[in-house]
Amino acid sequence: MSINLSTFIATECASDDRHPVALYQLIHQVAMCCRDIAAAVDRSALVGTTGSAGVDNVQGEEQKKLDIIANDLMMEGTQTHTALAAVASEEMARISRTSQERTAGQYLLLFDPLDGSSNVDINAPVGTIFSILKCPSARAPATEADFLQPGSEQVCAGYAIYGPATMLVLTTGDGTHGFTLERDSGEFVLTHPRMSIPARTREFAINTANTRHWESPVKRYVQECMAGTNGPRQQDFNMRWVAAMVADVHRILLRGGVFLYPQDAREVSRFGKLRLLYEANPMSMLVEQAGGMSSTGQQRVLEIQPHALHQRTPVMLGSREEVERLENYHHHV
Ligand code: AHG
Ligand code: MN
Ligand code: MN
Ligand code: MN
Repeated sequence: MSINLSTFIATECASDDRHPVALYQLIHQVAMCCRDIAAAVDRSALVGTTGSAGVDNVQGEEQKKLDIIANDLMMEGTQTHTALAAVASEEMARISRTSQERTAGQYLLLFDPLDGSSNVDINAPVGTIFSILKCPSARAPATEADFLQPGSEQVCAGYAIYGPATMLVLTTGDGTHGFTLERDSGEFVLTHPRMSIPARTREFAINTANTRHWESPVKRYVQECMAGTNGPRQQDFNMRWVAAMVADVHRILLRGGVFLYPQDAREVSRFGKLRLLYEANPMSMLVEQAGGMSSTGQQRVLEIQPHALHQRTPVMLGSREEVERLENYHHHV
């Protein structure tokens, strides 16, 4: 008998006193928003919502029309949720408080509404990444400072990937579990319970166009992979780069690998490219819950104390033995 997201959530609620029902109801609401975003991506070429919106976001990126549509769908679909105090998004400069009266035990939702959006006009995989934190200030209206919690404080992390199939992958701290959208019923069905990342791999993911900018530990690691059986690793490696973090992380959750977006010598990426609060932190929780590791090279990503809503961080995540090797190279430069 197949288990759908609602049943999984009800079972988790019944067996898990770590989180109240309100959290699971919020997760279900977010999943329904992802289902709507999948439909919007699916029909974009048919209804003329491909291409650029002609404005830049707070990141300095040119927004795609679908970046804005996905953001609007997440906002509209969650604003009325009584357990939600405020949201933060890659596509919004400031946080947005919901209209709910302040009550104790509410949550903060953070999201990247459309990840890998440079892929969206070439029909390559894109996704949505989300993270849920407890709102520390139970009485006063939520502030931006409330969002600046280390990733270890997340009560839920997840993503949807809009690829050949639409999948939802999430964790509430008890393993990482994958659900596949059954388009006819609109249900997310549990297809990948307790995903587990192999400790070893022969596959790495990095944008090698930036090689000349990398710092020496990353250069050493990648050069050794490229040297294959002729080099110190004494095995051949393969390289994959989908240019959508959700797709590269999904592959790693399914068959292992290591994903790197390091900081480099350029001003624009001196802290890396990926955003800590709504890309690196949720993906790091999902990877760790699946037995992998996620590091900046110097420290565990989930232990970073944030200082700004849209701050960036270097990310090296995936198969444990590879991330340990990368940390070793960074500590012994
Ligand atoms: P977003 O589309 O949300 O801005 O994120 C894109 C990110 C991430 O998904 C991906 O791994 C990375 O950018 C790709 O960077 P390059 O364009 O340098 O390959
Ligand atoms: Mn973007
Ligand atoms: Mn992104
Ligand atoms: Mn995005």
